[in-house]
Amino acid sequence: MSTAFAQVLGSDSKIEIRPLQPTIGAEIGNIDLGQPLSPADRDAIRAAVLKYKVVFFRDQTIDNAQHAAFAREFGPLYVHPSNKHDDKIAPLHKISAEDAARYEDRVRKYVAPGDEYHTDTSWRLVPTWGAVLRAVNLPPVGGDTIWVDANLAYEGLSDEVKARLEGRYVTHDFLGALNGSGHDYPIVSHPVVRTHRETGQKILWVNFTQKPQILGLELAESRALLDEVLRQYKRPEFQVRFSWRPGSVAFWDNRGAVHYAVKNYGDFPRVLERILIADEPLYADL
Ligand code: SIN
Repeated sequence: MSTAFAQVLGSDSKIEIRPLQPTIGAEIGNIDLGQPLSPADRDAIRAAVLKYKVVFFRDQTIDNAQHAAFAREFGPLYVHPSNKHDDKIAPLHKISAEDAARYEDRVRKYVAPGDEYHTDTSWRLVPTWGAVLRAVNLPPVGGDTIWVDANLAYEGLSDEVKARLEGRYVTHDFLGALNGSGHDYPIVSHPVVRTHRETGQKILWVNFTQKPQILGLELAESRALLDEVLRQYKRPEFQVRFSWRPGSVAFWDNRGAVHYAVKNYGDFPRVLERILIADEPLYADL
């Protein structure tokens, strides 16, 4: 489906939005992320992130400080304890092919290739709500990222599976990486089906890279239910796939979408830089 860019109606914002899929993914144009945002543009971008769950900007030439200034418009920045920080801007961290390969070696014991759909910081009681990811060094081709509309994923379940998931909680175990960085944290659980506190949508919310386990079930039943979740995440109808180009930036709502990095670029030292946006401690549920 291809639609044209459209201005935001009823707003002073000058940004233009082009949906990429019916419910997930939109490209935003007519904005320079290197400049301070007007309140109208900020509000319009925030509304677009809530509506489309992930938005994309093209042809941006921003440095680390501008990247951080943009993200800071949407909440306090989160310093991840186990990712390598930028020397000057602690919340900024690299997502490098090298680190991804190391991480993959560790998680391969319990997650099969192609199954690594995840949300960020799901191990925390209050996970980060947003992420801004910027292209730094891209392979000539490949290295796309996929985001899944986790509300459509929920709606796509059969009534029988919805009933089996009702009231269930899932744990995510990230202790290996955290302890390796000298950080300790209890293992917490979250509802498998969460209600997004801003959109009211029901969200299927599991991180397959952090040994998910549904509490109170035999392991076999937990695995069977998680397979149902994964099957939904993998449905192309619920996804948007983004091909990075120099100058591309993605901004997503970690509460409404899960994502997956496509690793099809051999040994190329792909690098992106990411900043996570913290949620308010009040919102322990979402
Ligand atoms: C991420 O998981 O936040 C990074 C996605 C990517 O490397 O494409």
